[in-house]
Amino acid sequence: MTSLQSQYRARRVYEVTPVASGAVALRLSDQVVELGKKEYDWFTKAAAWLPSVRGVADLCRELEMDEAKLPRFLTALEKTGLLYRTDKVPESVTGIEFHARFNAVLNSWLTEAFAHPFWDRMMSGRGSKRLFTGWLIELYHYTKNANRHMPLSCASAHEKQIKLLRAKHYAEEWNHYHYFMKALKALGFTEPQIADSVPLPMSLALSNFMRQAARQDILAYSICSAVLEGTTVDRRTYNPYYEKAVEIYGVPKEAVAPIYAHLDLDIQYQHSDLFLDILKHVDTISAERASVILDYGHQLVEHIWMWTENIEKYYDKESNPVPRRPFNLNLD
Ligand SMILES: [Fe+2]
Repeated sequence: MTSLQSQYRARRVYEVTPVASGAVALRLSDQVVELGKKEYDWFTKAAAWLPSVRGVADLCRELEMDEAKLPRFLTALEKTGLLYRTDKVPESVTGIEFHARFNAVLNSWLTEAFAHPFWDRMMSGRGSKRLFTGWLIELYHYTKNANRHMPLSCASAHEKQIKLLRAKHYAEEWNHYHYFMKALKALGFTEPQIADSVPLPMSLALSNFMRQAARQDILAYSICSAVLEGTTVDRRTYNPYYEKAVEIYGVPKEAVAPIYAHLDLDIQYQHSDLFLDILKHVDTISAERASVILDYGHQLVEHIWMWTENIEKYYDKESNPVPRRPFNLNLD
């Protein structure tokens, strides 16, 4: 790796939108940067080259740029905000400073998690009651699986105060899957039908990812939990979806009422403040640890997107049983 490569890293680009005459708008967590077609191509190549072990000559050949001009080009990219200098990253941050960093990116993460076309489809009337039901069944499984990852997170926490906060969260959440069971019963399912059903692979992957995070670092687990709690803090973001489901897909109001009751309860518990409460007990986080924790948070965002993809693909297919049945030698 050359010295130029160790000096810079590319910021995360959340969205690339075409604007007039081939130019594009790149959305970062804190700003939008516009680049011409050619500059965007250069930026993409430089961003791929930075963490690689390829030499300067290799990149300059790709960019058709004189090697002497490369440092100036990278400085210009840094000024736009698309690159950052690694020597400007603090060696460590306090827990509270880390939370401010997390808060600054959370909205971009949530937008990315819910950018899946499923949501647009459901809201525009191109969805179905079957898809709505599928989403609820998988939410049931995910919420029930909290009993697999939440106690593990308590066990993994080393600090007494953090362990107690995680245990309190678990005590408040452990039986919330009953709200989804209630909603599914209002949709005509029996309790054994739902309780004995098999979750989709991505529903299991999501809860196993939480288990993996708990084993690696209690803050990695807590950031994932905070992202999930972040999806439920504002009634305005989820109400329209459930109201549409009643209006367009004929979902009975009794199936939506337990969902609202659950969301209201989570707000009442102030679970969205838990991550800050935990971080108040952390004096210092090294840059390396901070980067691992943030990476877990962003991976969770990608899991939510893939989970949605799995739900749409499975429940969209009319021949797939709803709910998914366990394997049965006589039937299968
Ligand atoms: Fe809950």
